[in-house]
Amino acid sequence: MEKQELTIPNHVSIVMDGNGRWAKEHGKPRTFGHKKGAEVVMDLCRDADDLGIKYLTIYAFSTENWKRAESEVRALMSLFGTYLKICHREALEHHMCVRVIGDTSALASDLQDLIRVLEDDTRDFDGLHLQIAINYGSRDEMLRAMRALLRDYEAGPFDAKDLDESMFSGYLDTAGIPDPDLMIRTSGEMRLSNYLLWQHAYSEFYFTDTLWPDFDKKELIRAIEAYNRRDRRYGKAN
Ligand code: FPP
Repeated sequence: MEKQELTIPNHVSIVMDGNGRWAKEHGKPRTFGHKKGAEVVMDLCRDADDLGIKYLTIYAFSTENWKRAESEVRALMSLFGTYLKICHREALEHHMCVRVIGDTSALASDLQDLIRVLEDDTRDFDGLHLQIAINYGSRDEMLRAMRALLRDYEAGPFDAKDLDESMFSGYLDTAGIPDPDLMIRTSGEMRLSNYLLWQHAYSEFYFTDTLWPDFDKKELIRAIEAYNRRDRRYGKAN
């Protein structure tokens, strides 16, 4: 039988799970797993771009992750600082447009500065669109959106009938970004964990037992093959 061309999802979102278990399996501290996980992100951006994926959204730190041990939170924040600098270089070289979603106002000011420069310098690029979710929670995002919407309403009331899906989407951190076609979660967990609840309304979900630090291009292609076997009725972007 002739090999059919794969339909590449326009937008892939990922919950990168299993760094801690991977580290434990290798007899290393949890932070070692996160470091390896960050290296995988860098390779993944190139792989996604090569495959023709236009939008990639990764869940790096949730609003719930602050409850982890202080030392782990500190290590993750330091890793984000290092990664954002590397990401800046990569983005300039490969014309990646990078946006950080989530409530960045709670992050240290040096991280906020890195994010601002990264977003400003890359906003007009038309290569891979990478969204990094840091201090992100979908309920928090929707509440922040509602507050902004109500502020606009107070400034110049509009008709309640004018509030539709497209208008509401415009208030979310992902404004202007198409909804994910495919959501991948690693490490065998089958939850959404407060991730893009509005945006995942019609996405296909793919779960794999692979731990995030072991995720590679082959795994990504396997997920896309599974996506190709799905019969999507709604939310088709291509
Ligand atoms: C889940 O693994 C992973 C995280 C909470 C952090 C995700 C961060 C990275 C992949 C690294 C850094 C990312 C960037 C963008 C630089 P876990 O700790 O919950 O693993 P476990 O479930 O095995 O304990």
